[in-house]
Amino acid sequence: METVVSGIRPTGNLHLGNYFGAMENFIKMQNENNCYFFIADYHSLTTHPTPGDLHGSVKQVLAEYLACGLDPEKATIYLQSDVPEVTELYLLLNMNAYVGELERTTSFKDKIRKQPENVNAGLLTYPVLMAADIIIHNAAKVPVGKDQEQHLEMARKFARRFNNMYKVEYFTEPQPYNFGEALIKIPGLDGTGKMGKSEGNGIFLIDDEKVLKKKVMRAVTDSGPTEMNSEMPEPIQNLFTLMDVVSEKSTIDSYKEKYANCEIRYGDLKKQLAQDINKVVAPIREEINAIKSNDDYLRKVAKMGAEKARESASKTVKEVREIIGFKPF
Ligand code: TRP
Repeated sequence: METVVSGIRPTGNLHLGNYFGAMENFIKMQNENNCYFFIADYHSLTTHPTPGDLHGSVKQVLAEYLACGLDPEKATIYLQSDVPEVTELYLLLNMNAYVGELERTTSFKDKIRKQPENVNAGLLTYPVLMAADIIIHNAAKVPVGKDQEQHLEMARKFARRFNNMYKVEYFTEPQPYNFGEALIKIPGLDGTGKMGKSEGNGIFLIDDEKVLKKKVMRAVTDSGPTEMNSEMPEPIQNLFTLMDVVSEKSTIDSYKEKYANCEIRYGDLKKQLAQDINKVVAPIREEINAIKSNDDYLRKVAKMGAEKARESASKTVKEVREIIGFKPF
């Protein structure tokens, strides 16, 4: 049983790519490990310092993750801002993080380009806060995508540096969590690439049946095969990849046959695909809405998570203070 920490940005909604890609692995992960899942609401201020509805965004992601199966009885699920110990560790780690190395971080350089009007110190020290999130529970593993690898490497560096500076073997250096089999890649609806957040490419779990259908019907196709048994171009293959995860095998086979015989009608295929996607998504959508309208439940989940997280976090901060040399009179 290893300790795993994962932070979730409170921006955007979960789409089918997240659901079939990452979520299934998260569910597996929480069964096999001591998991801490938290919503990184402090981090979100680095890009959105005056959010229109911070609470609403946090509530939305929390509801979506719970609806997908994150289980507050199995994992510790909390809001970053409910665990003030994180900010103390962040402050202490900041003393051993150097401006030069922070300025060289890829994500920081990206953000300078994207928001030149708001190059705040929180952006610069983003990796330090993230390291605090992770090592405050002495996590062994962190599930990370490509874009977070450098941040995790920095968390290892800060953990190691702390150990070296104070001549202790205190923090574990967190490693990437390996999901074993390759993640399922869900393609987008715009012909190429994988599903993302951009308009017209993704189907979100909260999309209602009408929106969902409209998106599928608008998916990129071509004028259809003209030769028997011809190879499928990427946009068509993508529709079949989606079918593979939501439709019955017999349905898929029959459309494949129609394609091979040049008898396929993309309109029919899309109608079927939309129907089958909706069958999978509808119960999750209902659950998201049920959870969102149940403030008592959400309050209970957040409270329980905060208590468990603070127990582990306060122990770490207490020990770190002792290691550094803070002492009561
Ligand atoms: N930086 C992560 C992201 O953008 C979110 C995050 C914050 C995180 N703290 C973390 C992820 C700690 C893993 C562990 O997705």
